Amino acid sequence: MRIGLTHIGKRFGKVDALRDITLEIPSGAKVALIGPNGSGKTTLIRVLMGLVDHRGQAVLGGERRDVAYVPQVAPHMTASVGELVRAICDLRGLPRKRVEDVARRLDLPLDELARREFRALSGGSKQKLLIALALATRPGLLILDEPTASLDADARGRFLLLQRELAADATLILCSHRLEEIRSLVDHVIALEDGAVVYDGPASEYLARRVGTLVEVRFRGEDPSWLRDRGFAAGVDGWWSKAVDRAGKLELVPAAIRARGAELADLSVRDVDLVELGGVS
Ligand SMILES: Nc1ncnc2c1ncn2[C@@H]1O[C@H](COP(=O)(O)OP(=O)(O)OP(=O)(O)O)[C@@H](O)[C@H]1O
Ligand SMILES: [Mg+2]
Repeated sequence: MRIGLTHIGKRFGKVDALRDITLEIPSGAKVALIGPNGSGKTTLIRVLMGLVDHRGQAVLGGERRDVAYVPQVAPHMTASVGELVRAICDLRGLPRKRVEDVARRLDLPLDELARREFRALSGGSKQKLLIALALATRPGLLILDEPTASLDADARGRFLLLQRELAADATLILCSHRLEEIRSLVDHVIALEDGAVVYDGPASEYLARRVGTLVEVRFRGEDPSWLRDRGFAAGVDGWWSKAVDRAGKLELVPAAIRARGAELADLSVRDVDLVELGGVS
């Protein structure tokens, strides 16, 4: 489902939440919408969903019933889980079994929860149920606003698999701060800052520019000058860390092992957002 946004603006009192946003998202695109807290991601999605009034024009090239949306904050509902599932299934003409199957694969036992009030579920269970309802719908456009923010690592892994399997053909708009989701689910990145688009292009290019590696070593030797001289910062419990780019990682990790391997009690290498870290040293 194609999406066209032209000169979208939104003010909340004195806050310019969205400033003149023009975007074209082709049908079938997989897009990550990213940016710091308060940059306007949720507001932009709410504009798309027709949930807030705004300046400019937002066009969805398809039917609204072909859109599934998982909001960042679960709505307050007094309905029971069973009633909610029934209502969505009726509305969408969806077999209940399909929702149950997806929920089970997210480790959410719908039959056991049917009589519980939705608002009494844990944050993670609420999110799993909303994801299950969205994915079971097999929508043409899937909009997920930080869908995994309250999920544990196991549930996040299950979500990634299901998403790839059940929404392979859908147009996807995913708000996420998680690099592993951006890397494995999207091919395009739109970055917002302060209500304006600051990047709109291939995910690979964005990741190459913005993603770095945090190399952490646990040093148990007497003299940490080798680490200090190479810009490692001392942390707690013998850990030292340094942010590097890809080339730096390939050079630094073997060098550390060669030079100080016998004095290293542990080593961790993980991808991080360089902007959050404040840049590579
Ligand atoms: N209903 C509202 N009333 C007043 N201000 C709002 C409202 N909704 C959003 N804002 C403001 O608009 C700006 C953008 O908020 P928005 O929720 O879109 O950011 P976000 O990028 O989704 O942030 P986060 O990463 O924290 O979810 C913020 O300054 C926020 O305080
Ligand atoms: Mg948000």
